[in-house]
Amino acid sequence: MANRCKTAILISGSGTNLQAFIDAVAGGDLDLELAVDFSNNPKAYGLERAEKADIPTVCLPHSDYPDRESFDRAIIHELDQFDPDLLILAGFMRILSPGFVAHYSGKILNIHPALLPLYPGMNTHQRVLDSGDTWHGSTVHFVTEELDGGPRILQGRLAVTPGETAEELTSRVQAIEHKIYPEAAGWVGSGRAKFRNGDCWIDGVVAEAPVVQDF
Ligand code: GRF
Repeated sequence: MANRCKTAILISGSGTNLQAFIDAVAGGDLDLELAVDFSNNPKAYGLERAEKADIPTVCLPHSDYPDRESFDRAIIHELDQFDPDLLILAGFMRILSPGFVAHYSGKILNIHPALLPLYPGMNTHQRVLDSGDTWHGSTVHFVTEELDGGPRILQGRLAVTPGETAEELTSRVQAIEHKIYPEAAGWVGSGRAKFRNGDCWIDGVVAEAPVVQDF
């Protein structure tokens, strides 16, 4: 990996996680080069956040493309001009094609608002409340072809408060995400965490389970 890890951040919406990366880099807590912000949504507020931080932005609406594969090829064409070492999916609401994942094999991270392998997919906070779970949180993982299924790096965990609403839980989980996502990305950028042979390796050994931080 290059000295300063060139990083592309892919968003579709508000971009609070993108903002956490911008703030961590600006504050000297994260040694990544935020090379480009990509959005499939021209109205994503995250594009404004990137512009304010002088990060180049690229926006390609997915609806301009006939299928997922052609859209993904267009993203690759744009991103490769920045020669990224790392791709950060931060609320990027598109499923990636196998060709895209293979092109950036081992270089794509995602954050999912649940303690994976629990609750892949959507509406995680409500599903946690409906199940009466006592623990919830968020997971940073390497992206593979399996949706929300790649090897896990870091989880932030919290105790669900009795009577808490899905909105309250969402905001508490997001606050955790803003800490654990830049931290885990920093581990990958520095080479401390790696994707190798389908596993996550941390500090030179296969991580059978993610690192868990309680909040
Ligand atoms: C986060 O909660 C993340 O877990 C999920 O999408 C959300 C993105 O939020 N993948 P934001 O756009 O970063 O505010």
